[in-house]
Amino acid sequence: GSTLHAAASDQGRYFGTALAQGKLNDSQYTTIADREFGMITAENEMKMDATEPQRGVFNYSAGDRILDWAVGHGKQVRGHALAWHSQQPGWMQQMEGQQLRQAMLNHVTQVATHYRGKIYAWDVVNEAFEDGSSGARRNSNLQRTGNDWIEAAFRAARAADPNAKLCYNDYNIDNWSHAKTRAVHAMVADFKSRGVPIDCVGLQAHFNSGNPVPNNYHETLQHFADLGVDVQITELDIEGSGSSQAQQYSGVTQACLAVARCTGITVWGVRDTDSWRASGTPLLFDGNGQKKAAYTSVLNVLNDG
Ligand code: G3I
Repeated sequence: GSTLHAAASDQGRYFGTALAQGKLNDSQYTTIADREFGMITAENEMKMDATEPQRGVFNYSAGDRILDWAVGHGKQVRGHALAWHSQQPGWMQQMEGQQLRQAMLNHVTQVATHYRGKIYAWDVVNEAFEDGSSGARRNSNLQRTGNDWIEAAFRAARAADPNAKLCYNDYNIDNWSHAKTRAVHAMVADFKSRGVPIDCVGLQAHFNSGNPVPNNYHETLQHFADLGVDVQITELDIEGSGSSQAQQYSGVTQACLAVARCTGITVWGVRDTDSWRASGTPLLFDGNGQKKAAYTSVLNVLNDG
């Protein structure tokens, strides 16, 4: 294949990107997105603060714009994210307890219903575990509604859109030796054993020098897959430049290709200048839309894999 998605498709995978609706009128941006990617994630537009700015008042205009662009260009869509401690609308940030639980479940139900039949996979719950060595759940207003909030969200999402794959999505779960990785793995194992509907684990994969691509990445992906779920690399970016960055990108791509249930890779933006990182050059295209060494290394692995 001569593009990322064509080459990934030959391997039975997708290759995707996050898009921001405010850039859909930038023709360099949309030209690259259309040519290279087959799976689209809304970078912010389907989050809780965007879709339910006032309690019970839903606004899908920005999310729909991304979805319509994607569908109009023959792409699939990953939904991001139904329930999260961050980017909650102001009214929800003030809530606790049973009132919050009901508001969260209503949000999951409404948004998943609006997009029913159009989403390949939803990040149902995002970033619910703590960093560091505790392996604990992250303290948040959602967690304080009771430890079963995550499974309740998954059940509500399944009821609203039975055909979307339902994912748990997190960062820093790439290294198999880390407590956070093991804790998420244990939760997924528990869900599978009790019949809680879960189909996939999303590994965000935001890497930098302090948090490099681990040597055991393939092992981590395989351990999750062995639970009977798909794994997806959902928000890939890698700080750095040149051959060192290219090598890390090819390592991630190889790890995914080595795991049968690793169904695809999404990078978190198109050009370096589109990245959420204030500075740095973590993506596959430079600020002029030119292919970087990292791009070529990913494409080569997809073609030889
Ligand atoms: O759109 C408003 C604009 O109107 C306002 O003037 C401006 C002033 O701050 O803010 C703009 O919103 C910003 C938004 O990005 C759109 O650019 C928010 O402040 C900013 O917080 C928001 O950042 C996003 C971040 O999530 C928020 O948590 C990034 O774009 C987005 O890339 C990032 O994505 C997350 C994933 O959802 C979850 N995993 C980590 C990943 C990276 O942080």
